[in-house]
Amino acid sequence: MSSEVVSQTQAERARAIAAGETFFHPNLIPTHKRLPVAFTHGKGVWLFDEGGRRYLDMLAGIAVDTLGHADPRLVSAVSEQAGRVIHVSNNFHIPVQEQLAERLARLSGMEKAFFANSGAEANEAAIKLARAYGHRNGKVVPQIVVMEKAFHGRTLATLWAGGNTKIQAGFGPPVDGFVRVPFGNVEAIEQALDANPSVAAILLEPIQGEGGLHPLEPAVLDRIARLARSRNVLLMLDEVQTGIARTGKIFAFQHSSIVPDVMTLAKGLGGGLPIGACLVSGPAVDVFGVGSHGSTYGGNPLVCAAANAVLQAVEEDDLASRAVDVGNHVQALLRSRLSVPGVVEIRGRGLMIGIELDRPCSEIVRLSLDAGLLLSVTAERIIRLVPPLTITREEAEQGVDLLVPVILNFLRA
Ligand SMILES: Cc1ncc(COP(=O)(O)O)c(C=O)c1O
Repeated sequence: MSSEVVSQTQAERARAIAAGETFFHPNLIPTHKRLPVAFTHGKGVWLFDEGGRRYLDMLAGIAVDTLGHADPRLVSAVSEQAGRVIHVSNNFHIPVQEQLAERLARLSGMEKAFFANSGAEANEAAIKLARAYGHRNGKVVPQIVVMEKAFHGRTLATLWAGGNTKIQAGFGPPVDGFVRVPFGNVEAIEQALDANPSVAAILLEPIQGEGGLHPLEPAVLDRIARLARSRNVLLMLDEVQTGIARTGKIFAFQHSSIVPDVMTLAKGLGGGLPIGACLVSGPAVDVFGVGSHGSTYGGNPLVCAAANAVLQAVEEDDLASRAVDVGNHVQALLRSRLSVPGVVEIRGRGLMIGIELDRPCSEIVRLSLDAGLLLSVTAERIIRLVPPLTITREEAEQGVDLLVPVILNFLRA
């Protein structure tokens, strides 16, 4: 171990954790209310805390840890790359970035990638690209059709592309240029296009994650794509949460028969290393040129080595099929054990599963933690399970065994 200094405040944090209390470190801006636990290490789908207790991770760092924790292939790819070169900037050719772009193109059927560092940044690239596309087509004030309950990130433009007024509050003035319609409502999208000739793009998530695990029917996505094509507007999919085999296909759009013009990725792509990507094809392919956009870190050798290792493992282990198999199994178990008043619906695709309750249930997160299970609650009433894609059926059954009594006790209380 290195010469780690445990300050008095860190000791205070450890005491607060032991007492199960909320703790805010005085030198951290308190943007996140943290659960009373700190993990020292992980292995596969398990995380271990400072006291050696283990937790089944069905959150995966919010749909990020595709291969679970300490996957040897990811660890060795990252350490090998770190030992050679971590960062050089995009002033130079980066072979490992080219390799990743080639791999993403092969897997998605799209053409080119721009690499960023997060989901919000990938979406910022997409929003800028849509505006540039609009300008190029004579739209002086280009607009983007976005969805109610959408979530695209926390930067200014993505905050207003999203539909959550609670997280926008206090950060005005709003970013202009978005026309909002009900999620996946083809007629409403068509009306928005009719009413706004300046629309340059439609942006949506194939399954709304933060908005409450709402899947779009593949046939509806087909219709939206046809509409976009017929009106010469870009179809832009935010696959930050759904991408990288989570829903049972490498990309969620592959459940339908379309290829989007723009797709954004992040989360699962780096398996825990921060990388985002904005992929383009068809009419979006030549919108950006030299100087249109940029990033110091985006797609540096380290994160690209990680993403290559993740995608290689996803393909070699066919984690998309595993997501379908284990995901369907979990949904079936949950349906049979949770057909009780208070549980409204169990839904999702692959290993992106939501359990909707009839009441706000944020306490479930803490109750599950106490039971040794990590998960999240989104949109107040939806328990979200997005475990590592390497989870086995047996591990998933253990998760269900831990979760069901937590939910039943919560509903009884
Ligand atoms: C669909 C979607 N888009 C964008 C984001 C933002 O990603 P990041 O937090 O990496 O900026 C998220 C994060 O939850 C997301 O779920």
